[in-house]
Parts: sequence; C-alpha cells; structure tokens
Amino acid sequence: MRISITDRCNLRCRYCMPDGVKCVPMSQILTLEEYARIATCGALLGIRKIKVTGGEPLVRLGCCDLVRMLKETRGIEKVTITTNGILLEQYLGQLAAAGIDGINISLDTLDPGLYQALTGGGSLLAVLKGLEQALQLFQGKPIPVKINAVSLELKAVAEGLGCGYDGPGWPELLKLARDYPVDVRFIEMMPIGYGKQYRSLSHKEVLAKLQEQYPGLEKDGRSHGNGPAIYYRIPGFKGSIGFISAIHGKFCGGCNRIRLTSQGYLKSCLCYEDGKDLRAVLREGGTKEETDRKLLEAMKQAIWAKPMAHCFEHPEQMTENKDMMKIGG
Ligand code: GTP
Ligand code: 5AD
Ligand code: SF4
Repeated sequence: MRISITDRCNLRCRYCMPDGVKCVPMSQILTLEEYARIATCGALLGIRKIKVTGGEPLVRLGCCDLVRMLKETRGIEKVTITTNGILLEQYLGQLAAAGIDGINISLDTLDPGLYQALTGGGSLLAVLKGLEQALQLFQGKPIPVKINAVSLELKAVAEGLGCGYDGPGWPELLKLARDYPVDVRFIEMMPIGYGKQYRSLSHKEVLAKLQEQYPGLEKDGRSHGNGPAIYYRIPGFKGSIGFISAIHGKFCGGCNRIRLTSQGYLKSCLCYEDGKDLRAVLREGGTKEETDRKLLEAMKQAIWAKPMAHCFEHPEQMTENKDMMKIGG
C-alpha cells in the first residue's frame, strides 16, 4: 500500500506542480492516527509493505513518527519512503530511529543549474549530501537507497527552460550506480497532470544504448524492493540500473499495489479514479468495532475492484484527473 501523507512539496518540478498546489485544509487530510488505523486494517487483509510518499513526505510534520507507528503495526514488515531528498539530511537520524527500511530519492539530473530549473529552485547539493549521509548512516545495517529519475530528454527540457545544459543527459546519472551502492532507476513519464506535456525517452532505446556502451550488461534477477522496476547489472558498478517502464513495459498483470491519498481515498489504480473514501468511513462515527468492520469492507471492495490494466496509451479513457502529488506516484 502506497500512502501519500501530503500534497505539499518544497519543490516545483516542471512535470509535477510547476505552480504549486492548491492547499487543502489540514482538517481534510488524514491524521497520523488515521493512517495507522488504516494500516492496521490493511495488515489484517494481508498488506505487509507500506511506501510513504507525498507530495514530499518529509514536509509533513510527524512524518518520522508515522514511520515509527507503521513499523509498530502488527503484520507490517517493511516501511519505505520516496522523497525528493531536500530535507533528508535533517531527518535521516529520525527516519533511522523509526526503523525505515528503504529510501528512494527522486533525482532527474546531476547538473546543478538544470536541477534548479527543473525543480523550481531545488539545491542539488542538499540532495547529494542527503544521499551520501544516508549511505553512511545505514552502513551498519544497509538499507536500500535508490535513485528515481524520470526519463526525460534533458537537453530539450533544458532548452525549454532557457537554461544552458550541455551534458550527456541520462548517462550522467549512471555515475551514481558506478560509485555508490545505489540503484539508479529510470521511470517512463506517465501522462498524469503536467506529465502529459513531457515526452518520455523510450526505455527500449536507452537499454540498447546501455548495452552498446557496456557489453557486459546483464539482467539482475535479485529482488530490489516491492516495485515494478526491472534491473540490470553493469560489471564493476556498485549499484544496479532499473527501468520502470509503465507505458512500454506494462506490468499491470503483476500489480498488487493500492494507493491511499492524503485525503483518505483508497485508489485501485493510478489511471482510474475508482476507489473508496476511507476518510468518510473513519469519520462517520460509530463504535470502534463498527468502524473497523466498515473500513475492512471498503478496503476489500477497492482491492477486488482493481482493473486489469492501466490505459495510459489511451489518455481519453483515463478517469483519474488528480495530479501526481495527490496520488503519490
Ligand atoms: P521499491 O522498488 O520497493 O522502492 O518501490 P517503487 O519502485 O514502487 O517505489 P517508488 O515510490 O520510488 O516509485 C517509483 C516510480 O514507480 C514512481 O514513479 C511510481 O509512480 C512508479 N510506480 C510504482 N508502482 C507503480 C504501479 O503500480 N504502476 C505504475 N504505473 N507506476 C508505478
Ligand atoms: N510520471 C512518472 N513519474 C512521475 N513522477 C512524478 N510525476 C511523474 C509522472 N507523471 C515521479 C517522481 C518521483 C516518483 C515518486 O514519481 O519524479 O521520483
Ligand atoms: Fe515535489 Fe516530487 Fe512533485 Fe517534484 S515530483 S514537485 S519533488 S512531489
């Protein structure tokens, strides 16, 4: 279960929320206790792993407390987080103390100027410091630290943003997997919100180029997490290279994810708006037993209603109009 704990973010990625987000009153956002209660019900239904997302999860006060609460939930085995990394340095200690099991950091370029332009003012240095510290902090008990890079034609994007960038594009990110024990994952852009305006690189082409450049490239069959990425190894590299090819490598057949928005709506699939309003169930009153029974029932219904597959290739059939920061990726 992926849970988005806030729509807010300290960045303004061009493909996500270039103009920010219309703030929803906190009263409409789930409390930490409400998330924990849903997690408890989820665990009764067999959910074992929770991914905490946003917006940017670390801007939500109490994010690390929630991680701890989720970790303490009977039946929940793994709690991981996907963050833009800007506040990572500040919160790493608390995340570690809470027992976090994995950290994914969104990072689309290693060029400081382009990073700043693409994220609407973000500091690449802060993210890299967070990454290095995460690797150091967890040295005793290594937890997976991964990089998420949306597959963009960086030169064209930079040109559109009016910023001079003459780097190699996606190959520059490989350096991170070469030098650090981190997996670098490329993500095909999905036609959600502002993402519709961006063209994704074809992962088929990226892979072909990778193979050409590194003839020793081989499929990496080891498990790297709970997500849909397919991994490859390059001899001599410390980390692996992953591809999340939601468009050209449809992985819906094996999808077992459900998504909880920060307003408590349990979604069956990224692409469709179908789901169940768990906040309404939580807040309609009644005894604890009654509410838990209704929660379990609503969650089961959302899960059983999971569609066969997304329809990103036919955007006119999509029924989800929410932006990515409301869904949590
Ligand atoms: P781990 O590998 O266990 O860390 O999980 P993950 O890859 O799902 O984590 P993350 O939150 O970093 O997600 C990376 C990207 O994969 C995001 O862009 C997500 O939107 C995308 N993704 C994850 N699950 C799905 C899915 O079920 N469908 C689609 N289309 N995209 C997904
Ligand atoms: N398509 C694919 N990935 C996206 N992300 C944000 N918007 C999109 C989109 N439209 C990515 C972020 C982050 C992850 C959670 O989702 O860059 O790495
Ligand atoms: Fe924030 Fe992530 Fe959206 Fe960027 S992609 S604006 S980091 S929520």
